[in-house]
Amino acid sequence: LAKSSHFLVSPKEKRMSSIDKNLLSSEVNRRRTFAIISHPDAGKTTMTEKLLLLGGAIRLAGSVKAKKSKKFATSDWMELEKQRGISVSTSVMNFEYRNFICNLLDTPGHQDFSEDTYRTLAAADAAIMLIDAAKGVEPQTIKLFEVCKLRGIPIFTFVNKLDRESRDPLDLMHEIESVLGIATYPMSWPVSSGERFRGIIERETRSLHFFEGRNTTTETVAKIIPLENKEEISALVPEDLLTEALDGLDMVEMAGDEFSSERFLRGELSPVFFGAAMTNFGVRLFLEKFLEMSPSPSAKGSNQGKIEPLSPNFSGFIFKIQANMDPKHRDRIAFLRIVSGVYEAGINVTIPRLNREIRLTQPQQFFAQDRSTLDKAYAGDVVGIYDPGIFTIGDSLVEGGSFSFEGIPSFAPENFAVVRTSSALKRKQLFKGLVQLCQEGTVQMFVDETRAASDPILAAVGSLQFDVLLFRLKNEYNVDCVLDSLAFKHARWTNASSEEIAEAKAATDVVSVRDMQGCSLFLFKNDFTLSYFQEKCNNIKLFRSNSSL
Ligand code: G4P
Repeated sequence: LAKSSHFLVSPKEKRMSSIDKNLLSSEVNRRRTFAIISHPDAGKTTMTEKLLLLGGAIRLAGSVKAKKSKKFATSDWMELEKQRGISVSTSVMNFEYRNFICNLLDTPGHQDFSEDTYRTLAAADAAIMLIDAAKGVEPQTIKLFEVCKLRGIPIFTFVNKLDRESRDPLDLMHEIESVLGIATYPMSWPVSSGERFRGIIERETRSLHFFEGRNTTTETVAKIIPLENKEEISALVPEDLLTEALDGLDMVEMAGDEFSSERFLRGELSPVFFGAAMTNFGVRLFLEKFLEMSPSPSAKGSNQGKIEPLSPNFSGFIFKIQANMDPKHRDRIAFLRIVSGVYEAGINVTIPRLNREIRLTQPQQFFAQDRSTLDKAYAGDVVGIYDPGIFTIGDSLVEGGSFSFEGIPSFAPENFAVVRTSSALKRKQLFKGLVQLCQEGTVQMFVDETRAASDPILAAVGSLQFDVLLFRLKNEYNVDCVLDSLAFKHARWTNASSEEIAEAKAATDVVSVRDMQGCSLFLFKNDFTLSYFQEKCNNIKLFRSNSSL
C-alpha cells in the first residue's frame, strides 16, 4: 500500500515536498536585488565596478568599462550596438559579499535610456541613487526616482565625487528633499571636498574615515579614527575643516529627520552616504550598510493576494525580453525575476495569460555579455530563460497555481513617430512586426479615431527604442521602413470619461489616443500646452504611468 500511494504523488508535489524550507529561507534571506539609478556621468559605471571588485566578481579595475566599450561582433544585435557604440542589453550582475548574494540590475542610463530602464526597476527590491556632488539632482535622476517612488521601494543615496570641488552638503540635502520629495538621513558627513577633502565622519560611530588620496584598488581600508582621539585627528585634518564638518553634522542632527525604518522601507526617507567611487573611498562602508539595511526579496502582489518569497512553489514574472542575442539561433531571452520558491531546470509552470503549461529549461545567468547556466536559482534572483516566442512583458510563470502578478506599467513616452514603408506589399508584414515588437515592449503603440488601426502612432521613452524598432523590422521581418517624427513631447494617461475627454478636446485642441490595452491618453506638443491643459481642464487627472490609473 505504501508503495502504491507513493505513485499517487505527482512529480510537482514530490518536488515541492523535497524543497528544504530552511535552505530556501537562508538562500532567500541572503539575497539583495537592486539597481543603481543616476544621471549619465554621475559615476554609475565606476560605482558598479567598485562593488564588483569588492565582491570579487572582477579582479581588475577597468573591466566593466572595457566591457562597455569592447566591440563584440557575434550577433546582429551586437552589430547595432557596435554601430551606435552603445549597450542595448540590460543585464544583471551577480556577486557575493560576505554572506550576501547581490543581484545588481544594470539600468542603462545614457543615450540608450529607454523603457527597459524603467521596467528593470520593477525587478528591484531597492535602489541606489547616485548623485554627482557638484551637480546635485539632475533630470534623469528625477525620472528614475519617480519610478522607484511609485513602487515604494527603499532608496539609498550615494553622493559621489567628493574628491572634486562639491556643493555644500546641506544644500544638497535640501535639494534632494525639495526636488524629489524624500526625507534624508545622512549616515556620514563629508569633511570638505576637492583638494581639501579629508574624508567622512561616520555618524553612528562618530569616527573619521580618513581620505588618504587617490587609490583605486580594493585592498585599501580607510584609516578610521574615533572623533574623541582629537590629537590624532588634528594631525590629519585642519581645524577649520573639521569645525565646518562638525557644525554641518550638528545642524543635521538638530534640524534633520530622525531615522525611521518604516519610512525608509516605504521609500519616504533615504539614508545618505558620501564618497568618491573613483578613488574607492566610502564604497565599502556604503556596501556594508546597504546590505545590512536593505530588505531581502519581498512579497509581490497578485490577483490572488501577496505571494511570499518563501512559498515553496516557484513563481516569477518577465520584465524584459531581449531578442536576437544569438542570431544563429534567432533566440529570444526573457529575463525573469523570481518571486517565490526555487527554480530548477525541468520544472513545469503555467503561464496564466495563455492558460498553458510549459517546461522550463535551465536558467541562465548573464554577466555583461557572457552567460552561464545555473543549477538552481532562488526568490530574488534574476535569470534569463529561452523564450520560444511565447512570452510577453509582464507574464507570470507559476508552479502549482494560476495567479498573475500585478502588471508592469508603461511609462510616459517622450518620442513619437509614424512608420512607413515604400513597398505596399510589405504593409501586412509591417503591421505584424509592429504588433509583435510592441507586445515585446520595444515601443508603445497608440491609435486615435482619425487613424486606421494599421497605421498607429508609435511612442518611446528613449529615441534609441526607435532605432531598435527599425533595425528589427528590417532584420527579423524583412521590411525596410522610415519613421516620420511627430511633434509631440509629452503623453499622459487619464481616467476621464469619454464625455470629459470630448469636452477637453473641444476646449484645448489636445490630441487623445488609446494604448494597446484601450486606456486613454492625451498627447501634448510641449510643456506649455501641457500646463495650459492642466489649468484649463483641472477636473481631469493626468498620469505619467498607466499603473496609476
Ligand atoms: P556613468 O556610468 O554614470 O555615466 O559614469 P562613469 O562611471 O562612466 O563616470 C563618469 C566620469 O566620472 C568618468 O570620467 C569617471 O572616471 C568619473 N568619476 C566617477 N566617479 C568619480 C569620483 O568619485 N571622482 C572623480 N573625480 N571622478 C569620478 P571620464 O573622464 O568620463 O572617464 P574616464 O576616462 O575616467 O574613464
